[in-house]
Amino acid sequence: MKKITIAIDGFSSTGKSTVAKQIAKHLGYVYVDSGAMYRAVTYYAMQQGIIDSNHFNVDGLVANLDDIKISFKFNNSLGFAEVYLNGTNIENDIRTLEVSNFVSKVAEISEVRQLLVKQQQKLGKDKGVVMDGRDIGTVVFPDAELKLFMTASAETRAERRYSELIERGDAVTYEAVLKNVQERDYIDSNREDSPLVIAEDAIEIDNSNMSLQEQFDKILQLVNITQESIE
Ligand code: CDP
Repeated sequence: MKKITIAIDGFSSTGKSTVAKQIAKHLGYVYVDSGAMYRAVTYYAMQQGIIDSNHFNVDGLVANLDDIKISFKFNNSLGFAEVYLNGTNIENDIRTLEVSNFVSKVAEISEVRQLLVKQQQKLGKDKGVVMDGRDIGTVVFPDAELKLFMTASAETRAERRYSELIERGDAVTYEAVLKNVQERDYIDSNREDSPLVIAEDAIEIDNSNMSLQEQFDKILQLVNITQESIE
């Protein structure tokens, strides 16, 4: 089978990364979580005091971009690659609601996007990749053979993310998570550089009422159809 590029875009907390990991594992493909890279830059900015609830020194972040080295290392027991910032594993640190509350502001900055998009294109240059994010089918891999766009109602998404955070032991409320999901959707969809839009040739999947198994089966079927059509 010819290796293809699978781009999965969509709103926040639509379960993109869950299904992307499953599909990559099944196909023996590389999975890249592009959102983790924006979260890593945000985490760096928080650590350096460049961003907090009162201010965001955009110029300061842009001036420091050369200091930010993001890498992925496969964790055999987890079955996916964890994200590292300047050699430190930050996989858990970037999933907090606090990081989520700042990340869309950081992702609006063109200099940040240019840097990360270049790295993402490098990670996927040999195909055989599943990448999820907001601009993968539109900007990062406009020639991807399969483009998916995931949606679900804001309430469904907030409930899923709330459960994840509670399971981690984070003290959050459902209302705060819902507010974050809605605010990120707004900023991500309305920013000037690479807004979240459905690529013309993307297949839309609303997974509000789909089980994980149903979603996996549907996407795998689309992968098979795509592969057959290009053989
Ligand atoms: O929380 P969720 O899994 O839905 O989001 P994520 O994939 O971790 O992405 C976090 C944030 O990074 C998004 O809300 C966007 O602001 C930004 N992002 C982006 O701008 N472009 C991407 N390709 C991926 C993420």
